[in-house]
Amino acid sequence: MKRTKPLIVGNWKTTPANLKEAINFVKSLEKKLTALKKKSINAYYFLAVPDIFATSLIPFTKYGEIGTQNINGTTLGQETGITTPSMVASTGITFTILGHSEVRARGEDLHTLSQKVTLSLKAKLLTVLCVGESERDKEGNYLHELENDLKEILANVDRALFSNLVIAYEPIWAIGAPVPATTEECFEVVISLRRALATLVGIEHAKKVSIIYGGAVTEDTAKSFLIDGGVDGLLLGRASQELKTFTTILESCFKN
Ligand code: PGA
Repeated sequence: MKRTKPLIVGNWKTTPANLKEAINFVKSLEKKLTALKKKSINAYYFLAVPDIFATSLIPFTKYGEIGTQNINGTTLGQETGITTPSMVASTGITFTILGHSEVRARGEDLHTLSQKVTLSLKAKLLTVLCVGESERDKEGNYLHELENDLKEILANVDRALFSNLVIAYEPIWAIGAPVPATTEECFEVVISLRRALATLVGIEHAKKVSIIYGGAVTEDTAKSFLIDGGVDGLLLGRASQELKTFTTILESCFKN
C-alpha cells in the first residue's frame, strides 16, 4: 500500500547489552521525537528488539512500536520452550520481522517461513517479510529467484490479511556492508517484486502490501531511498542502534 507516512523499522539484532540500556535508548528517543513534534515533524518508529526486552519497553513508547525479530511457527499446545505468535501479540508487541537472512542462515526453510507468515498475520502482527539475493548476475536471474521465493512463501497465505504485510527488500550483500544498493538497483527490484505480487495475488491484494528497503542505509542515504528507490520505508540495522543516527534519519524521513 502506498503509505502516506514512511515506515521506518529499526532492527536492533543482538544489541544493546542489557535492559537498562534498552530502556534508556527508548526514553531518549521519545524525548527527541517530542522535541521534533514541537517543530511539526510527526516522526514515528518501529523497533524490532531482542525478545527478552520487548514487553519492558512498551510502556515507554508514545511515538513508536515495539516488535520482535522473529517468531515461531507454532500454535497453542504442548511444546516446551517456545511461544506462539498470538501470545506475542497479546503482550502489546505489534509487529515482527520474518525471514531475515541472518535467521535463514541458521536453517529456516521457505516452508517454515511461510507458516510463520501465516500465523503472524493471523495474530494481527504487522509482518515484515525479508527477501533478498545473495549475489547479482548480469542476466538478472536473481530477479526470478526473488519472485520464486515470494511465490513459495506467500502461496497459501490468506490474501485478506495482506494489508498487514510488508516486504523488506534486503540484498544480502548489502547487509552489514559499507555501502547500500543504489536507489536505481532498489527501484528495479521493487518494480519486479510488485509485478510478481500482482501476478500471484491480483492487483487489488498486491496494492495493500508495502515494500521497504534494508541494507547499509545511513543518515546520508535514507531519504534518497524514499524519493528515488520506490519504497514505502526502510529497515535499518546499525543505523537504528545509535540514537543520534536513528533520530536524524527519522527527522529527515518525516520532514516534508
Ligand atoms: P544494516 O542491517 O543496516 O546494518 O546493514 C540491515 C539489516 O540487517 O536489517
